Amino acid sequence: MARGAAFLGSEVAIMAGAMSWVSERNLVAAMSNAGGFGVIACGAMTPELLDAEIAGTKALTDKPFGVNLITMHPALFDLIAVCAKHKVGHVVLAGGLPPKGSLEAIKESGAKVICFAPTLALAKKLIRSGVDALVIEGMEAGGHIGPVSTSVLAQEMLPEIAESVPVFVAGGIGRGEAIAGYLDMGAAGVQLGTRFVCATESIAHPNFKKAFIRASARDAVASVQIDP
Ligand SMILES: Cc1cc2nc3c(=O)[nH]c(=O)nc-3n(C[C@H](O)[C@H](O)[C@H](O)COP(=O)(O)O)c2cc1C
Repeated sequence: MARGAAFLGSEVAIMAGAMSWVSERNLVAAMSNAGGFGVIACGAMTPELLDAEIAGTKALTDKPFGVNLITMHPALFDLIAVCAKHKVGHVVLAGGLPPKGSLEAIKESGAKVICFAPTLALAKKLIRSGVDALVIEGMEAGGHIGPVSTSVLAQEMLPEIAESVPVFVAGGIGRGEAIAGYLDMGAAGVQLGTRFVCATESIAHPNFKKAFIRASARDAVASVQIDP
């Protein structure tokens, strides 16, 4: 994982995937202090909230961390400006193709841009557009998911794109052996979410953590609609 770690500036190329309202200063700083790479989930935050969250994280760690912005956020360009103000080194764009001008705006601030690539064709398009790294995320992931499993996506995409840019594999990874497997296939690193929900440093409700810890694989259910 040397290539991924060099790209992130961390000791190990393990990104703690942004989780809305979970990946805040405490978890993000703990991840980065431990040698991984924490990512603040901006989610639906206002620019003012993000500004405070980045400042709060910086107070807890002097190690590199990233910020995850969702492309359909109405204030996307203001959020990019907040990241630029704080000299955030890595911005992850999630939730669809980056809108016109967003990649350029992030790169102008000196930050590296990481995008999610849902298909091989889009991965190649994003690489041509100048993204610095990609995340490929299978349907085993927590959060909003695509239709293809991580293992199939990885076999389809890594051989074609892993030499061009660092690729981080996400979705259903919970053990070191699985990380080693994806690195062996050409990944530069991995992104884990669910595993870190249960971390002591995570502010998620204790009952939420307990639900994960008690669950077995078959308890994971993909829902088609957010519970009203
Ligand atoms: C509770 C929760 C919230 C999430 N929120 C976001 C988010 O706001 N933005 C995003 O890009 N990914 C989000 N994700 C996805 C994670 O960043 C990560 O890619 C995913 O959890 C990896 O799969 P795993 O959960 O199997 O480790 C979320 C995941 C979880 C479990």
